[in-house]
Amino acid sequence: MTSEERTAVFDAVVAAADYPVLVVTVQADGRRAGCLVGFTTQVSIEPRRFLVGLSKRNHTYRVAQRAERLAVHVLGSEQLSLARLFGGETGDDLDKFVHCDWTSGPDGVPVLSTVPSWFSARIRDRYDFGDHVGVLLEPEGGAMVRRAAETLRYHAVADLAAGHAV
Ligand SMILES: Cc1cc2nc3c(=O)[nH]c(=O)nc-3n(C[C@H](O)[C@H](O)[C@H](O)COP(=O)(O)O)c2cc1C
Repeated sequence: MTSEERTAVFDAVVAAADYPVLVVTVQADGRRAGCLVGFTTQVSIEPRRFLVGLSKRNHTYRVAQRAERLAVHVLGSEQLSLARLFGGETGDDLDKFVHCDWTSGPDGVPVLSTVPSWFSARIRDRYDFGDHVGVLLEPEGGAMVRRAAETLRYHAVADLAAGHAV
């Protein structure tokens, strides 16, 4: 297998897994940020730990470097406009929080008002994985507002061009 073939197979298998896409938000030094993320997973049961991969190029990554907390939001499959706002626009050019409903959560972290569920978390560690940094989270609170009939997954936003160059 050539390296191009290896990459193509890997990309196809990961796309077929159809992972959930979530929105993470942060606040530091009075600056708010947030983006759509597919690189997310729980990584420990006891203690509860969750990992988010943030692209070093993103506005959200830069704000998150100085943040102590982060909020993770599950989207319903119908919330495509919220996905487009957070995944197709960059905070370098646009204040995304003027264009959505949110409230101020723990430590001033923006909490999106219309999502079915979310949790806030303390940032415990950061790992350099290459072009993304893994942010290790310890959950602290949140809300299960309603159970979404279907959560937003990769296939629904596969055509969305990332707002920030990857
Ligand atoms: C399907 C999809 C998945 C994405 N997954 C991630 C991700 O896991 N981590 C990340 O940092 N950016 C991810 N992005 C890209 C950011 O959401 C996008 O570049 C966003 O515009 C960055 O906004 P910001 O510059 O305000 O942080 C993804 C985008 C799409 C469309």
